[in-house]
Amino acid sequence: MKKHEGNIVLIGFMGTGKSTVGRELKRLLSAELIDMDQEIEKRDGRKIREIFAQDGESFFRQKETELLEYFLTQSYQNTIISTGGGVIISEKNRSLLKQIGFVAWLRADAETIHQRTKTAKTRPILHTENPLQVIQELLEIRTPLYESAADLTIDVNGLDKNEIAVGIMESMRYQQSREDEKV
Ligand code: S3P
Repeated sequence: MKKHEGNIVLIGFMGTGKSTVGRELKRLLSAELIDMDQEIEKRDGRKIREIFAQDGESFFRQKETELLEYFLTQSYQNTIISTGGGVIISEKNRSLLKQIGFVAWLRADAETIHQRTKTAKTRPILHTENPLQVIQELLEIRTPLYESAADLTIDVNGLDKNEIAVGIMESMRYQQSREDEKV
């Protein structure tokens, strides 16, 4: 078995269900689950909104890169990694993600994301007067980046967590079997 075989990396904008789908994949695959936001909070000893407020976004981005680099040094297998929505901004991170596992992009439209993120107070980037506009602007910038990082794109609108998780699992297995045929 290869060093990072069976790992699934979930990417996507805030509110697309990465954490929920991560937990469903963990259940279905009896896998380990690592939530990057939680891991950064644990290591840093502060909440993400505190890190943003005290040290700024670029400090947080640096923590994301350090964590991905750490993952690569580990022999993780059968592990689900749920990322923060902005992890794909850095080119370095996009390349690290691909080395860590099968990258699934959970895609949703701006309105759905707005509805899903409206009540949560945990996301500093959306603490603005007009969050829908921020979501639209960021989606425009980030969509090609998610696209280039992803091995699979899955439209989450209208699908439940189980349907999304099963779709990801099947697609990963199919891709792995094609790679095994090539060897
Ligand atoms: C961010 C998304 C958040 C968190 C941070 C920044 C972003 O994660 O990493 O608030 O830039 O999109 P979730 O996507 O899990 O909410």
